[in-house]
Amino acid sequence: MDLLSLQKQFILAHLREGDCAVDFTMGNGYDTVFLSKTVGPRGTVTAFDIQPDALLSTEKNLRANACPDNWRLICASHDRAPEFVKAPIRAGMFNLGYLPGSGRKQLTTMRKTTLPAVANALSLLGEDAVLLVAVYPGHAEGAAEGEELEKYFSSLSRFRYSIARFRMLNSPDSPYFIVCETRKEEAIR
Ligand SMILES: C[S@@+](CC[C@H](N)C(=O)[O-])C[C@H]1O[C@@H](n2cnc3c(N)ncnc32)[C@H](O)[C@@H]1O
Repeated sequence: MDLLSLQKQFILAHLREGDCAVDFTMGNGYDTVFLSKTVGPRGTVTAFDIQPDALLSTEKNLRANACPDNWRLICASHDRAPEFVKAPIRAGMFNLGYLPGSGRKQLTTMRKTTLPAVANALSLLGEDAVLLVAVYPGHAEGAAEGEELEKYFSSLSRFRYSIARFRMLNSPDSPYFIVCETRKEEAIR
């Protein structure tokens, strides 16, 4: 069972051609490529990372995959997203942790910015939208990040959001994800 592939099904249930999407943790750009292809030439994708190497690698990935010219790569921490992105967005993705293949594990996502970034991301979501957060509990900061995120998501109104967690029961250290959908009628604001 591949939970990180399953999460894409939740994105595809909401995201359409022409929509706006945000990749809050660009990394090597695999999620940015997926979002760019899904929203097509009339849509927009904004992607964030704090490491310049991530922007280089993502741009290469987008070009190698012949993605439409609908993306913007920003070298800034994701908690600053509202400075760059106007609501409403239809989908957002967080893939927490460190840049794969970089060897710089200390440059991992951190609770003190992840929590405000997720709260800001929710404020950008429009109606019938979705936010995905993939958590890596196999290292100490990732496990703590997951616990705080679960506490935060559990506190949100069930009238405004539908929120679920997908986690392997027999492999608790494997990556898992949280999906948060805005409800259609009770739109935020
Ligand atoms: C697991 S990787 C993301 C993988 C990526 N989605 C992909 O498809 O390749 C996590 C990324 O988050 C980035 N990151 C860490 N802290 C960040 C922050 N405060 N704002 C934005 N990105 C951050 C890291 O530099 C790393 O590249």
